[in-house]
Order: sequence, then structure tokens, then C-alpha cells
Amino acid sequence: MNKSIVVLGTQWGDEGKGKIVDLLSRDADAVARFQGGHNAGHTLVIDGVKTVLHLIPAGILQPGVECLIGNGVVLSLKALRKEIEALEEKGVAVRSRIQISPACAIIMPYHELLDRAREEAMGDRAIGTTGRGIGPAYEDKIARRGLRTSDLLNPATLGDKVAQILEFHNFVLKQRYGVDPLDLEAVLAEALELGEYFRGQVTDVSGRLYQLREQGKRIMFEGAQGSLLDIDHGTYPYVTSSNTTVGGVCTGTGVGPDAIDYVLGITKAYVTRVGGGPFPTELFDEDGARLARRGDEFGATTGRPRRCGWLDAVALRRMVKLNGVTGFCVTKLDVLDGFDEIKICTAYRLNGQTLDAPPLDASSWADLEPVYESFPGWKDSSRGATSLAQLPPNARSYLETMENLCGAPVHIVSTGPDRNENIINQYPFDI
Ligand code: IMP
Repeated sequence: MNKSIVVLGTQWGDEGKGKIVDLLSRDADAVARFQGGHNAGHTLVIDGVKTVLHLIPAGILQPGVECLIGNGVVLSLKALRKEIEALEEKGVAVRSRIQISPACAIIMPYHELLDRAREEAMGDRAIGTTGRGIGPAYEDKIARRGLRTSDLLNPATLGDKVAQILEFHNFVLKQRYGVDPLDLEAVLAEALELGEYFRGQVTDVSGRLYQLREQGKRIMFEGAQGSLLDIDHGTYPYVTSSNTTVGGVCTGTGVGPDAIDYVLGITKAYVTRVGGGPFPTELFDEDGARLARRGDEFGATTGRPRRCGWLDAVALRRMVKLNGVTGFCVTKLDVLDGFDEIKICTAYRLNGQTLDAPPLDASSWADLEPVYESFPGWKDSSRGATSLAQLPPNARSYLETMENLCGAPVHIVSTGPDRNENIINQYPFDI
């Protein structure tokens, strides 16, 4: 029986992780976030009611599930408070169930200003970030000058720390980007107030995870973004600033690899991407527009339209290996209903050569040409199917092809946005 499972995206994010984490958290005792911040947007639909979560683990909507925010998360306490208040207004108990690591890197107001100013200054070369200050906050962490949750709980020393760091960032904001500098008193007052608000929520999250593991409890590690946005293994520099792949679980919560029993790779039946950067199978034709329309492909955090394309089996099989994916959860299969022909990219062409793995130098990604295999589509609806037998035969063959090309079995298929619209071949906690 698997006790600890990781749920992560295998593409460029927006694979539909939120729904699956919510589904699996029915059987979890705790759900932990390990990277990213409020750049994430997990949309959950329960009994037709939509909830978008950015920072709080999706397990919050299951009564009794403990929610943990690990040290690898970059934390905007302001955004977290807003999210908590919105959920508590809907009657969801949050503060009694959420715990935050004292070692999270804190996102401060200057990080957001810098993120936006830099993007604007980059013009055509902009990353297309969510503008939430994610990159600048991780930079401060790595540069060893950032604030951690624990700093906000210590009024005696916080003033000096904020003064020092603000001096540095105000200089850059004003001199490099012509942005008005921030006022020390105001930044400090807000930080102190937020620290007080969260004082009761700050705990040794790693220690709590060891305890849960020793007690034989079930833990789910909830990834944000997707593997191809990983700072090391993604399409750099068009990536986010964290390790979105499985290694991030260990560094971002403080557990060893023995705490991972199973990895569920959430994979959309086609591919989407928001923001800039290479995307070999991107479609600019009616097929792409149809995927966007049928899949309602707009970002949950920024509302930006997502770019759409065919499934990329080359990138996907790499991400299966990289993450040690135990099983796939294929989402949005129903969006492919009604296509006459469906394509899967099975190799790339680059400078006259055929590649069966993604290039390791980031710049080559932009020049890749996809080599496609075509498959017949299906006319019948797969929407809401709860068993493989209910799927059109060509939809079943599509899933088998995915398994064969990418090297992992399909354990779950999501056939609609609602919590109950799934085919479960293997339930990750039951194996
Ligand atoms: P950042 O994470 O805001 O720095 O943005 C860096 C890149 O990651 C941009 O291309 C964003 O569009 C992308 N990104 C960040 N968060 C998400 C997400 O939750 N889903 C999809 N893309 C994301």
C-alpha cells in the first residue's frame, strides 16, 4: 500500500493537477506543497461550484486533511491571508488545518515590483511571468539575503533586515527601472502585521512529515506548475524559478527519497503553455483554436489565453524518466472528442537530424520541428466516462499509444471537470 504519493505536472503546467489532488486528498491525511508560490492556480469544480486555489494545498476542501506549506515554497503571506479569508467566508476551516515552514522564502512587495518592471523592460524577450514576484524572491533566497517566515516573527531584528534589503532593491528599482522606491516604514509595518497574523501557523513542517510517516499516515505532495517549467530541466530561460520535478519534494519539504512511494504524472491529452518560450507542437490553425475553445484554455492565475498543441511524446517520455513517474493521470481527454485526426509528436528534427530526446541546450528548443504520427479521432463523447469500456475505441487506442510511446501506464483518466468524472484503473494509494 502506498502511503506517500507525489502529484506533479509533466508538461508546462495547467495539466489539471488541482482536481486530481482534490480527488486523492479524500484518502490523504496531509497534503504538502513543496515549491512555487501563488503563481500556481488550481481550479477545482465541486458540485458545479468553482474554487481557484493559488497557495493553499488543494486538500483544504476535504474536511480534516492537514495542509502543509514546505520550505521550498516562496510565500506571499498577503496572498495567503486573502485566500484563507475567502475560503473561511465560504465556511471552510483553514487556519486550524494549515501549517507553514519557518524556512519559506517570503515574497515581499519589492519582488512583485521588480518582476513586473523587469518583464516590461525585456520587451520581446519577456518570460511572460505571472508577475507575482516568484523569480526575484527565489533570487534573494539563493543570494542568501532573503527573508524567511521566521524573520517575520521576530520584531526585534526584522527592522534592520528589511532596511538592508530594501536599500538594495530600492536602488535597483529606481536607478535601473525608474520605479518609485518603496517606503521602509510601510513595508516593515505590513511585514510585522502579517507575521503576527500567521504566528500560530508556523511549525516544523519537515518534523511533522516525519511524524505522519511514522504513524503510517497517508501524505500527498502537491506539485505546482509543470516539469518543463523546471529551473534546471525545463525550457530555460522560459521557466519558473523552482524545481517543479520530483527532486523538489525532498529539498522543498525536507524529507528523504524514501518518503516517496509513488509518483503520479498529470498529463493533459494535448499540450498547453502560457507565457513565452519554445513549444515544438504549438498549433496556429483551426485545430489549435478548437483545443483552446473546447478546453477553455485560459490561465487560472492571470486569465491569459493558453497556447495549444498536440501531445509531445518526446518531451513527455523524458519527463517520465526524470520524475520516476509510476503512473499517468491523463486529463481533458474529452477535449479531443470530435477530431477527425489526432497527432502525436514522436520525434524532433533539428538541423537535418532526427532526435528522440529533447536537446539539452536550451537554445535549440526554439528550432525543433515536430515529427508527427497521425491517429484516427473519435466522434462519440468520452465526457464523464467512468470506465475504459465506456470510451470510444479510438480513445482507448490513443491512451495505449501514449503508454507505449512514453513508458508509463495510464492509471487515471479525467473525463470532465467534476470530481466524479474519472476512470480509475489503478488508485495510487491502493497499489
Ligand atoms: P513565474 O513563475 O511567474 O516566474 O513565470 C515563469 C513562467 O512560468 C511563465 O511562462 C509562466 O506563464 C509560467 N507559469 C508560472 N506558474 C504557472 C502555472 O501555474 N501554470 C502554468 N504556467 C505557469
